[in-house]
Amino acid sequence: MGCQMNRLDSELVISRLRAAGHEMTDDRKSADVVLFNTCSVRRHAEQKVYSRLGAEGQRKQHNRRLIVGVLGCMAQREGEQLLRNHPQVNIVCSPGQLARLAELIEHVAGTGGAVLALDPDRRARGGGAEEEADRDEFDALDLSRDPSQSPSVAQAFVRVARGCDKFCSYCIVPFVRGPEVSREPSRIVQEVLRLVEAGRTEVTLLGQTVNSYRWCDGGRTVGFAGLLEQVAAVGGLRRLRFVTSHPLDFGNDVLHAMRDLPNVCPYIHCPAQSGSDAVLRRMNRKYTRAQYDDLVDRARGTVPDVVLAGDFIVGFPGESEEDHAASADLIRRSGYKNSFIFKYSPRPGTAAARMRDDVPTEVKRWRNNDLLAVQAEVGLAHHRSYIGRTVEVLVEGPSPRAAKQPTPAPPGQTQMLGRTRGDHIVVFDGEPNLAGHYVDVRIADASALTLMGSINLDVS
Ligand code: SAH
Ligand code: SF4
Ligand code: F3S
Repeated sequence: MGCQMNRLDSELVISRLRAAGHEMTDDRKSADVVLFNTCSVRRHAEQKVYSRLGAEGQRKQHNRRLIVGVLGCMAQREGEQLLRNHPQVNIVCSPGQLARLAELIEHVAGTGGAVLALDPDRRARGGGAEEEADRDEFDALDLSRDPSQSPSVAQAFVRVARGCDKFCSYCIVPFVRGPEVSREPSRIVQEVLRLVEAGRTEVTLLGQTVNSYRWCDGGRTVGFAGLLEQVAAVGGLRRLRFVTSHPLDFGNDVLHAMRDLPNVCPYIHCPAQSGSDAVLRRMNRKYTRAQYDDLVDRARGTVPDVVLAGDFIVGFPGESEEDHAASADLIRRSGYKNSFIFKYSPRPGTAAARMRDDVPTEVKRWRNNDLLAVQAEVGLAHHRSYIGRTVEVLVEGPSPRAAKQPTPAPPGQTQMLGRTRGDHIVVFDGEPNLAGHYVDVRIADASALTLMGSINLDVS
Protein backbone atom coordinates (compact mmCIF):
# COMPACT_ATOMS: atom_id res chain seq x y z
CA MET A 1 0.00 0.00 0.00
CA GLY A 2 3.04 2.34 -0.25
CA CYS A 3 5.98 3.36 -2.41
CA GLN A 4 8.02 1.34 -4.93
CA MET A 5 10.16 -0.02 -2.09
CA ASN A 6 6.99 -1.37 -0.51
CA ARG A 7 5.91 -2.89 -3.85
CA LEU A 8 9.29 -4.57 -4.25
CA ASP A 9 9.02 -5.99 -0.72
CA SER A 10 5.57 -7.40 -1.60
CA GLU A 11 6.95 -9.01 -4.72
CA LEU A 12 9.87 -10.59 -2.84
CA VAL A 13 7.59 -11.78 -0.03
CA ILE A 14 5.20 -13.39 -2.53
CA SER A 15 8.06 -15.15 -4.25
CA ARG A 16 9.40 -16.44 -0.93
CA LEU A 17 6.01 -17.61 0.31
CA ARG A 18 5.46 -19.45 -2.98
CA ALA A 19 8.77 -21.20 -2.47
CA ALA A 20 7.51 -22.21 1.00
CA GLY A 21 4.44 -23.85 -0.56
CA HIS A 22 1.83 -21.06 -0.32
CA GLU A 23 -0.30 -19.95 -3.28
CA MET A 24 -1.82 -16.57 -4.13
CA THR A 25 -5.58 -16.33 -4.60
CA ASP A 26 -7.62 -13.71 -6.46
CA ASP A 27 -10.55 -14.40 -4.18
CA ARG A 28 -9.93 -12.64 -0.91
CA LYS A 29 -12.80 -14.46 0.78
CA SER A 30 -11.18 -17.84 0.22
CA ALA A 31 -7.79 -16.82 1.66
CA ASP A 32 -6.41 -18.52 4.79
CA VAL A 33 -3.81 -15.81 5.22
CA VAL A 34 -4.32 -12.10 4.52
CA LEU A 35 -1.25 -9.86 4.59
CA PHE A 36 -1.23 -6.07 4.34
CA ASN A 37 2.04 -4.47 3.31
CA THR A 38 1.51 -1.04 4.80
CA CYS A 39 2.71 2.58 4.54
CA SER A 40 2.97 5.20 7.30
CA VAL A 41 4.00 8.22 5.27
CA ARG A 42 0.68 10.06 5.68
CA ARG A 43 -2.27 9.52 8.02
CA HIS A 44 -4.52 8.68 5.09
CA ALA A 45 -2.33 5.69 4.14
CA GLU A 46 -2.74 4.28 7.65
CA GLN A 47 -6.48 4.89 7.77
CA LYS A 48 -6.96 2.69 4.70
CA VAL A 49 -5.28 -0.16 6.58
CA TYR A 50 -7.45 0.28 9.68
CA SER A 51 -10.60 0.06 7.60
CA ARG A 52 -9.36 -3.09 5.84
CA LEU A 53 -8.43 -4.58 9.22
CA GLY A 54 -12.00 -3.92 10.34
CA ALA A 55 -13.31 -6.00 7.43
CA GLU A 56 -10.90 -8.85 8.21
CA GLY A 57 -12.03 -8.71 11.86
CA GLN A 58 -15.61 -9.37 10.69
CA ARG A 59 -14.46 -12.33 8.56
CA LYS A 60 -12.54 -13.74 11.45
CA GLN A 61 -15.74 -14.10 13.46
CA HIS A 62 -16.78 -16.76 10.90
CA ASN A 63 -13.33 -18.25 10.31
CA ARG A 64 -11.28 -18.44 13.48
CA ARG A 65 -8.33 -19.98 11.65
CA LEU A 66 -7.87 -16.96 9.37
CA ILE A 67 -4.38 -15.47 9.78
CA VAL A 68 -4.10 -11.68 9.44
CA GLY A 69 -0.69 -10.00 9.14
CA VAL A 70 0.38 -6.37 9.10
CA LEU A 71 3.72 -5.97 7.34
CA GLY A 72 5.97 -3.05 6.55
CA CYS A 73 6.22 0.50 7.77
CA MET A 74 3.08 0.65 9.92
CA ALA A 75 4.08 -2.59 11.63
CA GLN A 76 7.32 -0.92 12.69
CA ARG A 77 5.63 2.36 13.69
CA GLU A 78 2.85 0.82 15.77
CA GLY A 79 4.52 -2.41 16.90
CA GLU A 80 2.82 -4.09 19.83
CA GLN A 81 -0.06 -1.59 19.85
CA LEU A 82 -1.36 -3.18 16.66
CA LEU A 83 -1.81 -6.48 18.48
CA ARG A 84 -3.30 -4.80 21.52
CA ASN A 85 -5.82 -2.66 19.64
CA HIS A 86 -6.66 -5.12 16.86
CA PRO A 87 -7.17 -8.63 18.25
CA GLN A 88 -7.78 -9.95 14.72
CA VAL A 89 -4.10 -9.32 13.88
CA ASN A 90 -1.79 -12.34 14.29
CA ILE A 91 1.43 -11.12 12.68
CA VAL A 92 3.19 -7.77 12.94
CA CYS A 93 6.31 -7.82 10.78
CA SER A 94 8.64 -4.86 10.12
CA PRO A 95 10.36 -4.20 6.79
CA GLY A 96 13.68 -5.64 7.97
CA GLN A 97 12.10 -8.91 9.18
CA LEU A 98 10.18 -9.88 6.04
CA ALA A 99 12.62 -12.67 5.17
CA ARG A 100 11.24 -14.52 8.24
CA LEU A 101 7.60 -14.29 7.21
CA ALA A 102 7.07 -17.90 6.10
CA GLU A 103 8.38 -19.05 9.47
CA LEU A 104 6.08 -16.60 11.31
CA ILE A 105 3.02 -17.83 9.41
CA GLU A 106 3.91 -21.41 10.24
CA HIS A 107 4.33 -20.52 13.90
CA VAL A 108 0.93 -18.79 14.06
CA ALA A 109 -0.77 -21.63 12.15
CA GLY A 110 0.66 -24.06 14.68
CA THR A 111 -0.11 -22.14 17.87
CA GLY A 112 -3.09 -19.98 16.92
CA GLY A 113 -1.35 -17.11 18.71
CA ALA A 114 0.25 -13.87 17.62
CA VAL A 115 3.84 -12.86 16.79
CA LEU A 116 5.77 -9.62 16.68
CA ALA A 117 8.87 -9.31 14.48
CA LEU A 118 10.21 -5.77 14.79
CA ASP A 119 13.36 -3.94 13.75
CA PRO A 120 15.40 -2.09 16.42
CA ASP A 121 13.65 1.13 17.49
CA ARG A 122 15.51 4.17 16.18
CA ARG A 123 13.73 6.57 18.50
CA ALA A 124 15.08 4.77 21.54
CA ARG A 125 18.60 4.92 20.13
CA GLY A 126 18.32 8.53 19.02
CA GLY A 127 19.12 7.75 15.41
CA GLY A 128 22.74 8.76 15.77
CA ALA A 129 25.85 7.66 13.90
CA GLU A 130 26.49 5.05 16.60
CA GLU A 131 23.87 2.82 15.03
CA GLU A 132 25.26 -0.42 13.71
CA ALA A 133 23.07 -1.90 11.03
CA ASP A 134 23.20 -5.65 10.59
CA ARG A 135 25.15 -5.65 7.35
CA ASP A 136 25.10 -9.36 6.70
CA GLU A 137 21.42 -10.00 7.08
CA PHE A 138 19.75 -6.83 5.85
CA ASP A 139 19.45 -7.95 2.22
CA ALA A 140 18.48 -11.56 2.91
CA LEU A 141 15.10 -10.97 1.24
CA ASP A 142 16.75 -9.56 -1.90
CA LEU A 143 19.29 -12.36 -2.05
CA SER A 144 16.58 -15.01 -2.04
CA ARG A 145 14.85 -13.47 -5.06
CA ASP A 146 13.58 -15.78 -7.81
CA PRO A 147 13.94 -13.56 -10.91
CA SER A 148 11.43 -15.58 -12.90
CA GLN A 149 8.71 -14.51 -10.42
CA SER A 150 8.85 -10.78 -11.24
CA PRO A 151 5.28 -9.89 -12.22
CA SER A 152 6.09 -7.65 -15.18
CA VAL A 153 7.38 -9.24 -18.38
CA ALA A 154 10.03 -6.59 -19.03
CA GLN A 155 10.43 -4.46 -15.91
CA ALA A 156 11.89 -5.03 -12.46
CA PHE A 157 12.88 -3.10 -9.35
CA VAL A 158 16.20 -3.73 -7.63
CA ARG A 159 17.05 -2.36 -4.18
CA VAL A 160 20.43 -0.65 -3.88
CA ALA A 161 20.06 0.62 -0.33
CA ARG A 162 17.76 0.37 2.64
CA GLY A 163 16.68 3.04 5.10
CA CYS A 164 17.29 6.77 5.28
CA ASP A 165 19.53 9.00 7.39
CA LYS A 166 18.27 12.36 6.15
CA PHE A 167 15.65 12.94 8.88
CA CYS A 168 13.55 15.50 7.02
CA SER A 169 11.52 16.96 9.85
CA TYR A 170 8.11 15.80 8.53
CA CYS A 171 9.09 12.28 7.55
CA ILE A 172 8.47 8.95 9.24
CA VAL A 173 10.62 6.92 6.81
CA PRO A 174 13.94 7.10 8.76
CA PHE A 175 12.09 5.73 11.81
CA VAL A 176 10.29 2.89 10.07
CA ARG A 177 12.93 1.91 7.52
CA GLY A 178 15.93 2.31 9.81
CA PRO A 179 19.48 3.48 9.09
CA GLU A 180 20.69 3.83 5.54
CA VAL A 181 22.75 0.84 4.42
CA SER A 182 23.99 0.35 0.86
CA ARG A 183 24.21 -3.10 -0.68
CA GLU A 184 27.43 -4.51 -2.04
CA PRO A 185 27.79 -3.55 -5.74
CA SER A 186 28.53 -7.12 -6.86
CA ARG A 187 25.27 -8.35 -5.27
CA ILE A 188 23.30 -5.64 -7.10
CA VAL A 189 24.99 -6.45 -10.41
CA GLN A 190 24.35 -10.18 -9.89
CA GLU A 191 20.67 -9.56 -9.22
CA VAL A 192 20.35 -7.41 -12.36
CA LEU A 193 22.18 -10.04 -14.39
CA ARG A 194 19.78 -12.76 -13.23
CA LEU A 195 16.77 -10.57 -14.00
CA VAL A 196 18.08 -9.89 -17.51
CA GLU A 197 18.70 -13.61 -18.01
CA ALA A 198 15.05 -14.13 -17.01
CA GLY A 199 13.95 -11.75 -19.78
CA ARG A 200 13.73 -8.36 -18.02
CA THR A 201 15.16 -5.47 -20.06
CA GLU A 202 14.33 -2.46 -17.86
CA VAL A 203 15.57 -2.22 -14.30
CA THR A 204 14.79 0.54 -11.79
CA LEU A 205 17.26 0.91 -8.94
CA LEU A 206 15.52 1.79 -5.68
CA GLY A 207 16.63 3.67 -2.62
CA GLN A 208 14.89 6.21 -0.36
CA THR A 209 17.65 8.55 -1.51
CA VAL A 210 19.10 6.36 -4.20
CA ASN A 211 21.84 8.79 -5.23
CA SER A 212 23.37 8.81 -1.74
CA TYR A 213 24.39 5.19 -2.43
CA ARG A 214 27.89 4.60 -1.10
CA TRP A 215 29.77 1.35 -0.67
CA CYS A 216 33.14 1.33 1.12
CA ASP A 217 35.29 -1.76 1.16
CA GLY A 218 38.89 -1.45 2.32
CA GLY A 219 40.38 1.41 0.34
CA ARG A 220 37.73 1.29 -2.38
CA THR A 221 34.60 3.47 -2.45
CA VAL A 222 31.81 3.08 -4.99
CA GLY A 223 29.43 6.03 -5.21
CA PHE A 224 26.17 6.17 -7.14
CA ALA A 225 27.82 7.17 -10.44
CA GLY A 226 30.19 4.19 -10.11
CA LEU A 227 27.27 1.87 -9.38
CA LEU A 228 25.39 3.13 -12.45
CA GLU A 229 28.46 2.36 -14.53
CA GLN A 230 28.72 -1.21 -13.19
CA VAL A 231 25.01 -1.97 -13.62
CA ALA A 232 24.76 -0.32 -17.05
CA ALA A 233 27.48 -2.70 -18.27
CA VAL A 234 25.17 -5.73 -17.85
CA GLY A 235 24.66 -6.98 -21.42
CA GLY A 236 21.03 -7.03 -22.58
CA LEU A 237 19.87 -4.33 -20.15
CA ARG A 238 18.16 -1.78 -22.41
CA ARG A 239 16.97 0.68 -19.82
CA LEU A 240 18.37 1.56 -16.41
CA ARG A 241 16.36 3.90 -14.17
CA PHE A 242 16.62 4.99 -10.56
CA VAL A 243 14.35 6.60 -7.91
CA THR A 244 14.18 8.64 -5.71
CA SER A 245 17.00 11.17 -5.72
CA HIS A 246 17.84 13.69 -3.03
CA PRO A 247 18.91 17.12 -4.37
CA LEU A 248 21.80 17.41 -1.92
CA ASP A 249 23.63 14.35 -3.24
CA PHE A 250 23.17 14.96 -6.95
CA GLY A 251 26.74 15.50 -8.12
CA ASN A 252 27.93 16.16 -11.66
CA ASP A 253 29.44 12.65 -11.74
CA VAL A 254 25.90 11.19 -11.78
CA LEU A 255 24.83 13.65 -14.51
CA HIS A 256 27.89 12.68 -16.57
CA ALA A 257 27.08 8.99 -16.11
CA MET A 258 23.53 9.70 -17.32
CA ARG A 259 24.88 11.52 -20.36
CA ASP A 260 27.54 8.96 -21.24
CA LEU A 261 25.90 5.59 -20.54
CA PRO A 262 23.43 4.95 -23.37
CA ASN A 263 21.07 2.67 -21.43
CA VAL A 264 20.69 5.02 -18.43
CA CYS A 265 17.35 6.80 -18.93
CA PRO A 266 17.30 10.62 -18.88
CA TYR A 267 14.75 10.84 -16.09
CA ILE A 268 15.29 12.37 -12.65
CA HIS A 269 12.68 12.22 -9.89
CA CYS A 270 14.20 14.63 -7.43
CA PRO A 271 11.68 16.03 -4.92
CA ALA A 272 12.06 19.69 -3.97
CA GLN A 273 9.23 19.62 -1.33
CA SER A 274 9.11 23.46 -1.28
CA GLY A 275 10.43 26.42 -3.25
CA SER A 276 10.94 28.57 -0.14
CA ASP A 277 14.20 28.68 1.82
CA ALA A 278 12.41 29.33 5.11
CA VAL A 279 10.26 26.22 4.66
CA LEU A 280 13.16 24.10 3.38
CA ARG A 281 15.08 25.02 6.53
CA ARG A 282 12.23 23.99 8.83
CA MET A 283 11.84 20.80 6.80
CA ASN A 284 15.54 20.05 7.44
CA ARG A 285 16.03 19.41 3.72
CA LYS A 286 19.67 20.65 3.96
CA TYR A 287 19.67 22.54 0.63
CA THR A 288 18.51 25.98 -0.47
CA ARG A 289 16.28 27.05 -3.30
CA ALA A 290 19.35 28.35 -5.14
CA GLN A 291 21.03 24.94 -4.85
CA TYR A 292 17.94 23.22 -6.22
CA ASP A 293 17.73 25.71 -9.13
CA ASP A 294 21.41 25.03 -9.80
CA LEU A 295 20.77 21.28 -9.93
CA VAL A 296 17.99 21.82 -12.49
CA ASP A 297 20.31 23.98 -14.60
CA ARG A 298 23.17 21.48 -14.37
CA ALA A 299 20.86 18.61 -15.32
CA ARG A 300 19.43 20.50 -18.32
CA GLY A 301 22.92 21.63 -19.36
CA THR A 302 24.43 18.13 -19.16
CA VAL A 303 21.88 15.44 -20.02
CA PRO A 304 20.19 15.86 -23.43
CA ASP A 305 16.37 15.72 -23.25
CA VAL A 306 16.44 15.25 -19.49
CA VAL A 307 12.98 14.88 -17.93
CA LEU A 308 12.37 16.05 -14.36
CA ALA A 309 9.70 15.09 -11.85
CA GLY A 310 9.12 16.43 -8.35
CA ASP A 311 7.28 16.09 -5.05
CA PHE A 312 5.84 18.97 -3.04
CA ILE A 313 4.27 19.25 0.40
CA VAL A 314 1.71 22.04 0.83
CA GLY A 315 0.68 23.48 4.19
CA PHE A 316 3.84 22.62 6.11
CA PRO A 317 3.81 24.37 9.56
CA GLY A 318 4.32 28.09 9.13
CA GLU A 319 3.97 28.07 5.32
CA SER A 320 2.88 31.57 4.22
CA GLU A 321 1.23 32.68 0.99
CA GLU A 322 4.64 33.89 -0.12
CA ASP A 323 6.23 30.51 0.61
CA HIS A 324 3.46 28.84 -1.36
CA ALA A 325 4.01 31.21 -4.30
CA ALA A 326 7.70 30.23 -4.22
CA SER A 327 6.72 26.56 -4.69
CA ALA A 328 4.49 27.47 -7.65
CA ASP A 329 7.38 29.44 -9.10
CA LEU A 330 9.73 26.48 -8.67
CA ILE A 331 7.34 24.21 -10.59
CA ARG A 332 7.32 26.69 -13.48
CA ARG A 333 11.06 27.19 -13.41
CA SER A 334 11.85 23.45 -13.27
CA GLY A 335 9.45 22.52 -16.09
CA TYR A 336 8.55 19.20 -14.46
CA LYS A 337 6.90 16.44 -16.47
CA ASN A 338 4.79 15.74 -13.40
CA SER A 339 4.82 16.37 -9.66
CA PHE A 340 3.33 14.51 -6.75
CA ILE A 341 1.70 17.06 -4.47
CA PHE A 342 0.77 16.18 -0.90
CA LYS A 343 -1.02 17.99 1.93
CA TYR A 344 1.16 18.03 5.02
CA SER A 345 0.19 15.28 7.44
CA PRO A 346 1.80 15.36 10.93
CA ARG A 347 3.51 12.05 11.79
CA PRO A 348 3.87 11.22 15.48
CA GLY A 349 7.48 11.18 16.68
CA THR A 350 8.88 13.37 13.90
CA ALA A 351 10.40 16.80 14.58
CA ALA A 352 7.65 18.59 12.62
CA ALA A 353 4.96 16.94 14.74
CA ARG A 354 6.20 19.18 17.56
CA MET A 355 5.59 22.30 15.43
CA ARG A 356 2.10 23.80 15.34
CA ASP A 357 0.14 22.41 12.35
CA ASP A 358 -1.15 25.93 11.76
CA VAL A 359 -2.19 25.92 8.10
CA PRO A 360 -5.98 25.34 8.12
CA THR A 361 -7.33 22.32 6.20
CA GLU A 362 -9.16 24.52 3.64
CA VAL A 363 -5.95 26.43 2.94
CA LYS A 364 -4.05 23.17 2.50
CA ARG A 365 -6.72 22.00 0.09
CA TRP A 366 -6.62 25.29 -1.85
CA ARG A 367 -2.83 25.24 -2.09
CA ASN A 368 -2.89 21.60 -3.15
CA ASN A 369 -5.31 22.43 -5.98
CA ASP A 370 -3.33 25.52 -6.89
CA LEU A 371 -0.06 23.58 -7.29
CA LEU A 372 -1.89 20.85 -9.21
CA ALA A 373 -3.20 23.51 -11.61
CA VAL A 374 0.25 25.05 -12.07
CA GLN A 375 1.75 21.59 -12.61
CA ALA A 376 -1.00 20.73 -15.13
CA GLU A 377 -0.11 23.83 -17.14
CA VAL A 378 3.63 23.10 -16.99
CA GLY A 379 3.07 19.40 -17.71
CA LEU A 380 0.91 20.18 -20.73
CA ALA A 381 3.57 22.47 -22.23
CA HIS A 382 6.20 19.79 -21.55
CA HIS A 383 4.19 17.00 -23.17
CA ARG A 384 3.13 19.17 -26.13
CA SER A 385 6.79 19.79 -26.96
CA TYR A 386 6.91 16.10 -28.06
CA ILE A 387 4.23 16.48 -30.74
CA GLY A 388 5.73 15.51 -34.09
CA ARG A 389 8.59 13.54 -32.50
CA THR A 390 9.05 9.78 -32.65
CA VAL A 391 9.84 8.19 -29.30
CA GLU A 392 10.94 4.72 -28.20
CA VAL A 393 8.23 3.13 -26.04
CA LEU A 394 8.46 0.07 -23.83
CA VAL A 395 4.94 -1.35 -24.03
CA GLU A 396 3.46 -2.25 -20.63
CA GLY A 397 0.05 -3.58 -21.72
CA PRO A 398 -3.49 -2.51 -22.60
CA SER A 399 -4.37 0.96 -21.33
CA PRO A 400 -6.75 0.71 -18.37
CA ARG A 401 -8.74 3.59 -19.82
CA ALA A 402 -9.05 2.18 -23.34
CA ALA A 403 -12.85 2.30 -23.20
CA LYS A 404 -12.86 6.09 -23.16
CA GLN A 405 -11.37 6.36 -26.68
CA PRO A 406 -13.50 8.57 -28.96
CA THR A 407 -12.85 6.28 -31.94
CA PRO A 408 -12.62 2.52 -31.50
CA ALA A 409 -9.29 0.84 -32.19
CA PRO A 410 -8.96 -1.00 -35.54
CA PRO A 411 -9.90 -4.72 -35.53
CA GLY A 412 -7.41 -6.88 -33.61
CA GLN A 413 -5.97 -3.84 -31.88
CA THR A 414 -6.62 -2.16 -28.58
CA GLN A 415 -5.39 0.99 -26.90
CA MET A 416 -1.96 0.13 -25.48
CA LEU A 417 0.07 1.96 -22.85
CA GLY A 418 3.82 2.23 -22.52
CA ARG A 419 6.59 4.52 -21.37
CA THR A 420 9.36 6.51 -23.03
CA ARG A 421 12.93 6.61 -21.76
CA GLY A 422 11.94 9.89 -20.10
CA ASP A 423 9.10 8.10 -18.24
CA HIS A 424 6.30 9.74 -20.25
CA ILE A 425 3.12 7.69 -20.47
CA VAL A 426 2.27 7.00 -24.14
CA VAL A 427 -1.01 5.57 -25.48
CA PHE A 428 -1.44 4.25 -29.02
CA ASP A 429 -3.46 1.60 -30.85
CA GLY A 430 -1.66 -1.69 -31.20
CA GLU A 431 -1.86 -5.43 -30.72
CA PRO A 432 -2.11 -6.71 -27.12
CA ASN A 433 0.85 -9.07 -27.69
CA LEU A 434 3.19 -6.07 -27.92
CA ALA A 435 3.47 -5.99 -24.11
CA GLY A 436 7.14 -6.20 -23.12
CA HIS A 437 8.39 -5.06 -26.55
CA TYR A 438 9.94 -1.78 -27.65
CA VAL A 439 8.19 0.15 -30.43
CA ASP A 440 8.61 3.56 -32.02
CA VAL A 441 5.59 5.81 -31.64
CA ARG A 442 5.04 9.06 -33.50
CA ILE A 443 3.41 11.57 -31.17
CA ALA A 444 0.34 13.36 -32.56
CA ASP A 445 -1.25 14.85 -29.45
CA ALA A 446 -0.63 15.38 -25.74
CA SER A 447 -2.36 16.11 -22.44
CA ALA A 448 -0.85 17.22 -19.12
CA LEU A 449 0.05 13.60 -18.23
CA THR A 450 0.00 11.62 -21.47
CA LEU A 451 1.41 11.47 -25.00
CA MET A 452 -0.83 10.04 -27.74
CA GLY A 453 0.44 8.72 -31.02
CA SER A 454 0.57 5.98 -33.58
CA ILE A 455 2.98 3.14 -33.91
CA ASN A 456 5.77 2.85 -36.47
CA LEU A 457 5.73 -0.71 -37.63
CA ASP A 458 9.27 -1.79 -36.68
CA VAL A 459 9.03 -3.88 -33.53
CA SER A 460 12.16 -4.92 -31.65
N1 SAH B 1 12.52 8.92 -0.10
C1 SAH B 1 11.82 9.73 -0.96
C2 SAH B 1 10.34 9.83 -0.70
C3 SAH B 1 9.81 9.62 0.63
S1 SAH B 1 8.11 9.69 0.90
C4 SAH B 1 12.47 11.07 -0.96
O1 SAH B 1 13.10 11.47 -0.05
O2 SAH B 1 12.29 11.74 -1.96
C5 SAH B 1 7.38 10.28 -0.57
C6 SAH B 1 6.90 11.68 -0.50
O3 SAH B 1 5.88 11.79 0.46
C7 SAH B 1 7.92 12.72 -0.10
O4 SAH B 1 8.72 13.12 -1.18
C8 SAH B 1 7.07 13.84 0.43
O5 SAH B 1 6.71 14.72 -0.60
C9 SAH B 1 5.82 13.12 0.92
N2 SAH B 1 5.73 13.11 2.39
C10 SAH B 1 6.59 12.54 3.26
N3 SAH B 1 6.18 12.77 4.54
C11 SAH B 1 5.04 13.49 4.45
C12 SAH B 1 4.14 14.02 5.42
N4 SAH B 1 4.35 13.89 6.72
N5 SAH B 1 3.06 14.71 4.96
C13 SAH B 1 2.83 14.85 3.64
N6 SAH B 1 3.64 14.38 2.69
C14 SAH B 1 4.74 13.69 3.08
FE1 SF4 C 1 11.91 11.03 4.16
FE2 SF4 C 1 13.62 12.96 3.70
FE3 SF4 C 1 14.50 10.45 3.87
FE4 SF4 C 1 13.06 11.18 1.78
S1 SF4 C 1 15.09 12.00 2.34
S2 SF4 C 1 12.78 9.35 2.98
S3 SF4 C 1 11.64 12.67 2.64
S4 SF4 C 1 13.61 11.67 5.53
FE1 F3S D 1 5.38 4.45 2.92
FE2 F3S D 1 7.27 3.06 4.03
FE3 F3S D 1 7.42 3.68 1.48
S1 F3S D 1 6.23 4.77 4.96
S2 F3S D 1 6.38 5.63 1.38
S3 F3S D 1 5.90 2.37 2.41
S4 F3S D 1 9.10 3.54 2.91
